[in-house]
Amino acid sequence: MSMGTAEVALQVLSGAGPRLLTSDMCFGNVYSTYPSSFHSKCTKKRTSEHMNFLRCSNMLRSHIGPKQFKGLGCGVFGDTAVNRFQLLSCKCQQAESVSGLTAEDGNGTWFVDSAKKLNLNGVSNSTNILEFEDVQQSEQEKKGLTSNGVVGTARDTMHKASVDSIEDEAWNLLRDSMVYYCGSPIGTIAANDPTSSNVLNYDQVFIRDFIPSGIAFLLKGEYDIVRNFILHTLQLQSWEKTMDCHSPGQGLMPASFKVRTVPLDGDDSATEEVLDPDFGEAAIGRVAPVDSGLWWIILLRAYGKSSGDLSVQERVDVQTGIKMILRLCLADGFDMFPTLLVTDGSCMIDRRMGIHGHPLEIQALFYSALLCAREMLAPEDGSADLIRALNNRLVALSFHIREYYWIDLRKLNEIYRYKTEEYSYDAVNKFNIYPDQISPWLVEWMPNKGGYLIGNLQPAHMDFRFFSLGNLWSVVSSLATTEQSHAILDLVEAKWADLVADMPFKICYPALEGQEWQIITGSDPKNTPWSYHNGGSWPTLLWQFTVACIKMNRPEIAARAVQVAERRISKDKWPEYYDTKRARFIGKQACLFQTWSIAGYLVAKLLLADPSAAKILITEEDSELVNAFSCMISANPRRKRGRKDSKQTYIV
Ligand code: GLC
Repeated sequence: MSMGTAEVALQVLSGAGPRLLTSDMCFGNVYSTYPSSFHSKCTKKRTSEHMNFLRCSNMLRSHIGPKQFKGLGCGVFGDTAVNRFQLLSCKCQQAESVSGLTAEDGNGTWFVDSAKKLNLNGVSNSTNILEFEDVQQSEQEKKGLTSNGVVGTARDTMHKASVDSIEDEAWNLLRDSMVYYCGSPIGTIAANDPTSSNVLNYDQVFIRDFIPSGIAFLLKGEYDIVRNFILHTLQLQSWEKTMDCHSPGQGLMPASFKVRTVPLDGDDSATEEVLDPDFGEAAIGRVAPVDSGLWWIILLRAYGKSSGDLSVQERVDVQTGIKMILRLCLADGFDMFPTLLVTDGSCMIDRRMGIHGHPLEIQALFYSALLCAREMLAPEDGSADLIRALNNRLVALSFHIREYYWIDLRKLNEIYRYKTEEYSYDAVNKFNIYPDQISPWLVEWMPNKGGYLIGNLQPAHMDFRFFSLGNLWSVVSSLATTEQSHAILDLVEAKWADLVADMPFKICYPALEGQEWQIITGSDPKNTPWSYHNGGSWPTLLWQFTVACIKMNRPEIAARAVQVAERRISKDKWPEYYDTKRARFIGKQACLFQTWSIAGYLVAKLLLADPSAAKILITEEDSELVNAFSCMISANPRRKRGRKDSKQTYIV
């Protein structure tokens, strides 16, 4: 690469240079799918400080009637609900014509196929498969079913047929949720519930919600939508964004965006499509979506690995996009810890839930994104410092999380006996944790076998709640050690009735109740105990759970969870979340036909059918990092504290 990073970045910011929407992204697709009488162009326009859109104008010749217009994926303004239906009806047509694919074979043959294919770490997992069959058998026995061959076969066939129809339904719903821009698919709408009039922002494409959709499409070999999503969201990254005259850091990715059809300036007969991003400046609570950029990097790597098309990640604009996210995350601040400091609600839990500071979910995604970026960054003189900072952070971050976030029975007992107020370099209780913080529930709950990473760590504060996504993604990304990763899955198995129960997977455990709920959530009526983010159960988490289980060669655990979900998820119309301690109710305010519930289920099924495909999401710890990590442990940081020369750079 001849152009320096700074130069490229400048060009990006000024709107010049090679990164702007290229013709192949918009023109190519548009002309191949639009009739010739339809003229489309994509322009980037900064309308005002507060509203910045990516535009694709569709100039309609007067002889094109509204019907044809509708069929081209361009809604008209008016009643929102009607508008949504119009958009959806044309999307279905588009889905067929663009992809030319049909929803095909489901997978009812998981046991057989997976036993053959699962060989991620060179170890066949046939024992686990057999164990799972045993579990199934005993479940059937519990229900009073015979294992008689004939009855079994008939029942199996019926079961397979019903599972196949759930998958077919899920694929149809996922395709119906596709959102088009300039005639090309660029994402999926968050929820597509035809019976609901209260859509809030669920009619938008959320970055985090699209990840399972994108993975499902990748696993199905449909790469275009993911490529378009990656490139269009990249365009939004460098948009000017302000809230009350303040701009967040460059590199921030939006939480969501919407395709709007607006009249073209000065021309009544024409409309244009615009991409309207929300960086948190309109979101409830004005929360900053820290996870968006991290997920974007993870999806970018998955796209390359799955499609084999590395040209996207090699593009100058994409490389710049990666670096902008990294610079924002790696910027120096006041922090004493290598973990990323964020405000409350900066991730999947996007409301006040007491997760400000250093929540595990963000740290796991951060670590994962750093590893993925490291793999994709082109070696270039200008980025040597960035790569050095990235490597150092990876080592420090994994040390910090593995050491200080980990708890199991032994560690809990250690904390229980902690001395406090230790002013010294070699304090055992570094964060001054008062043993009284160990809540009675935890003493009872912690199994003899198993452990997990706590939700958050700050001075004098350990948030002992179990947060699923953070733990699962720590397994997937190898932020947790192999031993810890197995222990996390052991804990899930031991606490199945709490974490999976009637619908996988509890977002966190336990719920905040009483005064704690009042103080920590601000008496949030949406986050009442065992609802929504406060101990609700989210089917979408099934996909991350499946990747984690596959990585640890224990897919049978995920398969059990999928079976639990299959019992009711389709009948219940694919809710966003479930309520109550055992996930018995559809969530109080849950959207139905929530896209990431649908996509999460599909990804889980696809991966269980072909576990080796999970490698597009998994990152293994590399030997350089392992060496650096052991250097760090054996270097006994306590003794060297304060001496300048002890600050080693492990990887250059
Ligand atoms: C809720 C969830 C958030 C999700 C959004 C769209 O706000 O908390 O994680 O992205 O809905 O589904």
